Amino acid sequence: MEADSYHSYSEEETRAIGKRFAEKLSPGDIITLAGDLGAGKTEFVRGVCEYFSVHDIVSSPTFTIMNQYIGSNPHDDEIALYHIDLYRIQEEKELQEIGFSECMSDEHVIKFVEWPEKAGSEMRNIDWNVLIKTMPDQEEERLINIEYLGKDR
Ligand SMILES: Nc1ncnc2c1ncn2[C@@H]1O[C@H](COP(=O)(O)OP(=O)(O)O)[C@@H](O)[C@H]1O
Ligand SMILES: [Mg+2]
Repeated sequence: MEADSYHSYSEEETRAIGKRFAEKLSPGDIITLAGDLGAGKTEFVRGVCEYFSVHDIVSSPTFTIMNQYIGSNPHDDEIALYHIDLYRIQEEKELQEIGFSECMSDEHVIKFVEWPEKAGSEMRNIDWNVLIKTMPDQEEERLINIEYLGKDR
């Protein structure tokens, strides 16, 4: 299993790590983001959006649950991303209301999911897991672990 670890010492560095990671992504990929509230999951996605030249400001989707962004890759192909934050989901039936499984099965879109554990068994076919760990007594330091889980499509 392939895994990479990085240290980040600022939100800018976390964004830069996200931006570099984005290069590896292809349409349809599913990326879960693990880590505490305030770890930097949304900052990481912001870096991904920079790579794909998304012009909309990437706000935290915690209150909106799902955001969609449109950008392009270096070959100028249009790239669509979903950024889903399940933090506010309390029961799995709410996933149906937001159309979670339909979103996840869209093969043309790159999908980022914060708080994937809230989706329970609906969270399938994960290609990458990004774990961002905070460090005790180091307010801005993060350990970012990126694991490739592969896919069978
Ligand atoms: N190394 C770092 N990487 C990412 N964010 C950091 C870092 N150091 C401090 N921060 C701060 O932590 C917060 C991370 O917020 P956010 O990305 O919304 O977290 P999450 O989505 O994981 O809840 C921001 O306020 C950011 O300024
Ligand atoms: Mg967030």
